[in-house]
Amino acid sequence: MKYSKIVGLGHHVPDTVITNQYLSNVMDTTDEWITERTGIKERRWINPETDTVANMAAKATRMALERAKLTAEDIDFIVFATITPDYFFPGSGVLLQRELGLDGRIGALDIRNACSGFIYALSVADQFIKTGMYKTILVVGAEIQSTALDITTRGRNTAVIFGDGAGAAIVQPSDNAGILSTHLHSDGKFAEELYVKDPGSSRPHAERQPEQILDTTSFKVVMNGNQVFKHAVVRFMEVINEALTTNKIDKSEINLLVPHQANLRISQYIQEKMGLSDEQVYNNIMKFGNTTAASIPIALSEAWGENKIKDGDIVCLAAFGSGFTWASALIKW
Ligand code: COA
Repeated sequence: MKYSKIVGLGHHVPDTVITNQYLSNVMDTTDEWITERTGIKERRWINPETDTVANMAAKATRMALERAKLTAEDIDFIVFATITPDYFFPGSGVLLQRELGLDGRIGALDIRNACSGFIYALSVADQFIKTGMYKTILVVGAEIQSTALDITTRGRNTAVIFGDGAGAAIVQPSDNAGILSTHLHSDGKFAEELYVKDPGSSRPHAERQPEQILDTTSFKVVMNGNQVFKHAVVRFMEVINEALTTNKIDKSEINLLVPHQANLRISQYIQEKMGLSDEQVYNNIMKFGNTTAASIPIALSEAWGENKIKDGDIVCLAAFGSGFTWASALIKW
């Protein structure tokens, strides 16, 4: 049986750095509070004049292609994970296809599984590779969260957490290494614990008019931080253990755990529970905040660029987020 192997990784983040100090000037918060509760020191927010989800994704893709020594012409399918598409519809997959100059030639699939989106997308790509349907799949996670944040004291529990960015992976078949397994879960009971309500389709026409809703939080990210935290720490552990058990691999054999960068405290909790060393867990949330579906591919791309992932390594990806959804992937690099 063929494996699906990540042969190239790239990422792109916007130029504008938003520090904790900046946030403390526009809302009632402090660098100390944010650092202690989330580990985040700064994040990147887009310039709406120049940045889109699709063009950030294209920049990440070009980096991944270059590292893989491939060109856009080699891509025969796109799987695009985002919950912040440039348009309500169509999804950003077709916009990325256009940015890459591949109009009309290949299929593009959009995935809306929030922070678990990249692993869901990787899992889809894995199935297409294993069946032989496609040979070179572009898997992307890209998000612009900043434009949906309530940047006032009312929204401070989310405004300080989220950032913008894009990450890309190129996946191809391999005979001897690659994705060992993926594990996908969800529980819609908790859909409203972390969500953006509008522009939802299930409300009467009058309620969907911007003037009715612009001054409410319905276009903004709403999160019950406590609930998210409590579920995240449990589900992260479960889904990582599921991947290890399935493959009969001991946690000590993990060379690098790349958790979704939700919150440094969540990563540290998992690290401690699993007894992993600092070298075995990759975190970059300090620089970029929580970039939802982009966080894992950005982190993977950075880790690979820093030589922290080598051929033969066991790499574990794990995520938890809105839905709730949670997922893991175990990879022999
Ligand atoms: N600055 C200062 N005070 C803040 C604040 C901020 N940015 N955000 C919230 N607070 C205040 C609250 O208003 C509350 O004040 P009160 O006690 O006077 O009512 C107090 O801090 C505690 O709020 P609470 O929400 O209970 O804090 P917390 O310890 O749970 O921390 C989070 C808040 C968001 C950092 C935490 O819940 C968390 O990390 N949750 C998980 C979030 C996450 O990972 N999301 C992404 C999932 S993919």
